[in-house]
Amino acid sequence: MTPKSKTIKKHAGITAGITGLGCYLPKKVMTNADLAKLVDTSDEWIRTRTGISERRIADEKEVTSDLAVNAARMALRDAKLEAKDVELIILASISPDMPFPATSCIVQAKLGAVNAACFDINAACSGFIHELTIAQQFIESGMYKNVLVIGVELLSRFIDWKDRSTCVLFGDGAGAAVIAPVKRGGIISSYLGADGTKSNLLMCPAGGSVHPASHKTVTEGMHFLKMQGNDVFKNAVRVMTDACAKVLHKSGLTTGDIDCVIPHQANIRIIEAVVERVKIPMEKVFVNVDRYGNMSAASAIVALFEAVKEGRVKKGDKVLLVAFGSGFVWGSCIIEW
Ligand code: ACO
Repeated sequence: MTPKSKTIKKHAGITAGITGLGCYLPKKVMTNADLAKLVDTSDEWIRTRTGISERRIADEKEVTSDLAVNAARMALRDAKLEAKDVELIILASISPDMPFPATSCIVQAKLGAVNAACFDINAACSGFIHELTIAQQFIESGMYKNVLVIGVELLSRFIDWKDRSTCVLFGDGAGAAVIAPVKRGGIISSYLGADGTKSNLLMCPAGGSVHPASHKTVTEGMHFLKMQGNDVFKNAVRVMTDACAKVLHKSGLTTGDIDCVIPHQANIRIIEAVVERVKIPMEKVFVNVDRYGNMSAASAIVALFEAVKEGRVKKGDKVLLVAFGSGFVWGSCIIEW
């Protein structure tokens, strides 16, 4: 095993880590049986092809920033901070309140985080790993002491409920984390990547400058998420496998050093294929895709929250996070808890 001193990379003597976690899942549960009443599908097809049994759907009065605020409040309580202590809010989402202003600004106002700078990022399902890596730079450079990162999706409003190839896959939810200097453990290493040549495989075509909202975009359902599932599947397996290898190499660690893997929760078959290739036993892998489906930017952070709460991640454990999504973008990160 590599000595610890090699694995913790410090800048200006500061190491960033997670000091608070929160999550919010809307109350309404939509089961596979509920979906079978909407489209030509079955519980058996959805479970065997994806591992999903149910997902959460936001109340019609809830908007993305509401979900985010609920998760953020819990994370701040967990970190024993008040909203005014937050210096920066980074919010990752592909289903924001609106194209602009940034949803993080709306969250700032709702939280009363008056001292926080804000920006949003669009890194789809890798949103949490991307914002964790960005927050790490602000903390370890000494610029900020408390950064709030949020991964939130309200994808049920971006989904074509008549398209069985996508509507069975996604769910709504939010996770939040406080990133701050830590005395022990923290973020060991992270790796980010992208391949924009494959952006057409998973997208929301309308609502931007290419296809501004028009009668045509609405009638043709171009404001809905479109995905070529099979191609996305193959790329997800290949890229997430590579991202695990790269971050392990960067950290000077081996698979044997990893105590818990938190993969993006899109499909149990993708998770199984990745960990088989990386050679990590499924017992070390945290899975909740069965209960929530794919919550994109919220998936990894909610999974980490639940893994910690359930005692699957304990003090001193090394946690490997890995994710992949629309862009394509991907990321991996190793944290000592
Ligand atoms: N119920 C029943 N049948 C269905 C359904 C459904 N809900 N959806 C598709 N089918 C049918 C298809 O029509 C097809 O029928 P055919 O053979 O008669 O043409 C058949 O099932 C097989 O379809 P495939 O698309 O080949 O099924 P596959 O095994 O690839 O599973 C799935 C599809 C679940 C979408 C898979 O490809 C997948 O998980 N892809 C990756 C998704 C992902 O990881 N996204 C991550 C990023 S998400 C983000 O960034 C927002």
